[in-house]
Amino acid sequence: MSPLLVTRTLPEDATDAALRADVRHGLTVQPKWLPPKWFYDARGSDLFEQITELPEYYPTRAEREILATRSGEITAASGARTLIELGSGSSEKTRYLLDALMPSVYVPVDVSESALTQAGQALVEARPELEVHALIADFTAPLALPATPGPRLVAFLGGTIGNLLPDERAKFLSSVRSLLAPGDGLLLGTDLVKDERVLVRAYDDAAGVTAAFNKNVLAVVDRELGADFDPDAFDHVALWDAGQEWIEMRLRSRVAQTVKVPALDLAVDFAAGEEMRTEVSAKFRKDGVSAELAAADLELTHWWTDAQDRFALSLSVVR
Ligand code: SAH
Ligand code: TRP
Repeated sequence: MSPLLVTRTLPEDATDAALRADVRHGLTVQPKWLPPKWFYDARGSDLFEQITELPEYYPTRAEREILATRSGEITAASGARTLIELGSGSSEKTRYLLDALMPSVYVPVDVSESALTQAGQALVEARPELEVHALIADFTAPLALPATPGPRLVAFLGGTIGNLLPDERAKFLSSVRSLLAPGDGLLLGTDLVKDERVLVRAYDDAAGVTAAFNKNVLAVVDRELGADFDPDAFDHVALWDAGQEWIEMRLRSRVAQTVKVPALDLAVDFAAGEEMRTEVSAKFRKDGVSAELAAADLELTHWWTDAQDRFALSLSVVR
């Protein structure tokens, strides 16, 4: 069994500085907001895994169906020897791709150290031939990838690209492009525009797991910055923005309250009913995906959907 290599390109003090900067900025502008990467501490990663199993949360099952049926075609089209996965989380669906592609090296990249080491350890145990080089890194910042054999396939699954705002997406796609050489590819998972009720339910489940996940960002700020957010003093809100074609997650203050953030020497007033944005989850159409890829100099060559047309996987290449 080859050992699991874990590289941290995010020094812990840089993470702390980034969290401070994000929270200071987000809580002092109107409307208030917090960036989504801070959802994923160990508890957040665990809650996300529970979300993927909820009856209302169809994206994971839809994407798994595509991977289970199309991994052979993806392999034939890409022939990659290195699989790099951004925001890999549990790497659960990735095994379909690993089984078909049989790359020599797998490079999972995530901000969640707990998710990465759990997934990585399980993978090296199950696949003695596979070299797993896990990278604790922020995929919105320039990535320093280990030197690995080409061709390379970068996978970005789960519809996570929808959690970036349009200008962040454009920046992200060109930085992915800069990691690729001719013949390399990008395998991108995008959730598709559909009936509003189906979408809203996926982000506001009956058991309240998504609400707990959304409020977990408050627990992260409490723990890391000594803040006194009371998660019970906020309600989870998920709504469909038809103009932007995204689901927006918010936390709504139930009462007028002042929250202290000692590490930032900050006291933040919330009005009763005031809403703070925590995440968007954009939904896509084929033309839009193709155009955004083209703007980053990536050419869409394949488009696969599940049987119910809920979710798409696309393959694009560098010409
Ligand atoms: N790919 C998995 C997980 C999706 S959830 C799936 O499809 O089920 C999004 C994942 O991206 C989480 O594991 C989270 O920790 C990670 N993530 C979110 N923002 C990130 C960032 N800026 N840099 C690196 N990883 C990030
Ligand atoms: N990438 C996931 C998505 O947009 C992340 C996610 C699922 C999420 N449910 C959430 C983020 C609830 C915040 C709140 O589907």
